[in-house]
Amino acid sequence: MLELFEIAEKLVEKPKGILAADESMPTIEKRFSRLGIENTPQNRLSYRQLLFTTPEIEKYISGVILFDETVFQENEEGILLHDILAQRGITPGVKVDEGKIDAPGSPTEKITQGLNNLSERLTKYKAHGMHFTKWRAVTLISENTPTPQVLKENATALAEFAYVSQEHGMVPIVEPEVLMDGKHDINKCEEVSTHTLTEVFSALEKRGVALNGMLLKTNFVVSGRDFQAKDEVSDVVQKTIGVLNKTVPHDVPGIVFLSGGLAPELATLYLCEVNRQADLPWQLSFSYGRALQAPAMEAWAKDRENIKPAQEAFLKRARLNAMARMGEYTYEEETNG
Ligand code: 13P
Repeated sequence: MLELFEIAEKLVEKPKGILAADESMPTIEKRFSRLGIENTPQNRLSYRQLLFTTPEIEKYISGVILFDETVFQENEEGILLHDILAQRGITPGVKVDEGKIDAPGSPTEKITQGLNNLSERLTKYKAHGMHFTKWRAVTLISENTPTPQVLKENATALAEFAYVSQEHGMVPIVEPEVLMDGKHDINKCEEVSTHTLTEVFSALEKRGVALNGMLLKTNFVVSGRDFQAKDEVSDVVQKTIGVLNKTVPHDVPGIVFLSGGLAPELATLYLCEVNRQADLPWQLSFSYGRALQAPAMEAWAKDRENIKPAQEAFLKRARLNAMARMGEYTYEEETNG
C-alpha cells in the first residue's frame, strides 16, 4: 500500500495533472442544461465514461476526482467506472464535502459542510478504491466580504477534513477557492488570496495535518470577471507566484490550479507561464474541471452518438495542459489538432 506522500507525489508526477469530474448535481445540471443535455443518471454515466475511456489520456492525467454517484456507477458490461481508471494507471479520488450553506450572520458568504458523517463516508470510499479526497471552500470578494470569521471557519473545516482524510489513508486535496465573481481588481484578489491561504495553512498546522501528504488546490490571482480591463499575463504570474511563496510551506509536494471559469486557453497559458518561473519548491500542476471538459462537453452535446470528437477535444486540452505544466506550451499548439 502506498504511503500518503507517495500518492500525493504520484498525483503531481510530471507531466500529468488531475481531471476534476466531480460536479455536484446542481453544477452538472447547470453545465448540461446550457447545452440541451438532459441531466439523467444515464447521461452522466455516458458522458463521464466517454472521458475516462479516451485513448491515451493516461499520458496526461494522473488522477480523477469523482462525485459520489460516479464512485458506484458501472458501465453496460458491469465494470465500475473507477476500475476503468485504475486499470489505466489513473488514480481515482472523490469529492467529500457536501456543498455550501449560507454563513450565519453573513449570508452572501458560504460555509462548506460535510464534517458530521465524514469518517463513515471515508471508510466506505476507501473500501471502494478511492485514494484521495477533495473539499472545496469558497471566498467571495465584495465590499463587505470576506469576513474574518467566515475565512477562519472555512479554514478550520478544511483542516479537519484534511486530518480525517489522512487518518483514513487518503490524500486530501485542500481547495480554498477565491471566486472570480465580482468587479474587483487583481490587487484585491492578491490580498484576499494571501489572507485565505494564510488562514488555511495556519489551521492545517494547528490540526497537525502532514503537509507532505496533501495537495493544495487553488486559484490563479486574477481580477474579477466584471473588472473593466483584462489582466496582463505577467501580472497574473508574478502575483500568483508571490502569494504562493508567501503562504505555502515547502513541505507541500504540489499545488494544482483550478480553472474557476477562465477560458480553457487562458487557464493553459497561465499554467505554462507560472511553470516557467525558476526554482519553485513545489510541483505546479492542474486540476481543471471546465478548462479540461468544456470543449468535449460541447462536442458531445452536438452529436451524442459519436463520442470521437468529444474524446479528441478532451485529449487535446489534457495534452496541452501537460505541455503547459512542463513550461512547453505555445499558442500555436491550439491550432495543431
Ligand atoms: P474548475 O476548473 O471548473 O474551476 O473546477 C475545478 C473544481 O474542482 C472546482 O471545485
